[in-house]
Amino acid sequence: MVKKVTVNTLQKCKDNNEKFSVLTAYDYSTAKYLDEAGIDVILIGDSLAMVALGYETTHAVGADEMAIFTRAVAKGVERAFVITDMPFLSYHTNISDAVKNCGEMIRCGANAVKIEGFGDYIAEVVKRLTQSGIPVVSHLGFTPQFINTLGGYKIQGKTEKAAQELLKQAKEMRDAGAFAILLEMVPAETAKYITENIDIPTISCGAGKHCTAQVLVSDDVFGKYSDFTPKFARKYGDMKSLILDCAKKFDYDVKNGLFPSDEESF
Ligand code: KIV
Repeated sequence: MVKKVTVNTLQKCKDNNEKFSVLTAYDYSTAKYLDEAGIDVILIGDSLAMVALGYETTHAVGADEMAIFTRAVAKGVERAFVITDMPFLSYHTNISDAVKNCGEMIRCGANAVKIEGFGDYIAEVVKRLTQSGIPVVSHLGFTPQFINTLGGYKIQGKTEKAAQELLKQAKEMRDAGAFAILLEMVPAETAKYITENIDIPTISCGAGKHCTAQVLVSDDVFGKYSDFTPKFARKYGDMKSLILDCAKKFDYDVKNGLFPSDEESF
């Protein structure tokens, strides 16, 4: 029997100064392999808007679509902790919509949700979700759903004042009930300062090595998605070439009568 990763496992990592790994997955078989590889947390990121659905930004994906991908990923996972990213406008209209939409992801098999932003309203959302039994990761720093108000892909928390403000936001979310803080595109020193001054795990997404955990989009790690790769991503394979190679070989075999063989026929 596999021991499931829980919020307590992740908090223990923080308490014992140990690291945990987070990768995105959007489908059943990828989730299954990541789980088998020992990845601790699997995130159904709204990055699937671009990576899996070919949309231009994360704004285009809805809660209904996130639910489908959550079901698929959750089916493939035995050990990892599963988090679903709540998409644009799925938790902003009012608290009741937020609880309903986030609760639906738990129904689909997620163990927690991730929401972007800070401030009184988001703190209230985090509080009500936590009170409803829905663990929350707070996503701070560069928050892609706010790209239009942030004015583009900009590194956040660059000055001392901005770092202090970020820590204040992180503590506000922790006090509201968030069990982890994800920091995106934040200088390593700022992320270190936040990590050292908060008692819940921090997850780095382009925020340097000092956080409790690291997250990357799995398609970047596999070398599968080639439209855009952020500076902070590391490519561990070349799945695009592997797919092209396999597809070309299949195409050749079909066109030259080499597939199927007698053994592959009834
Ligand atoms: O949507 C996503 O995949 C994400 C991260 C990579 C943090 O939010």
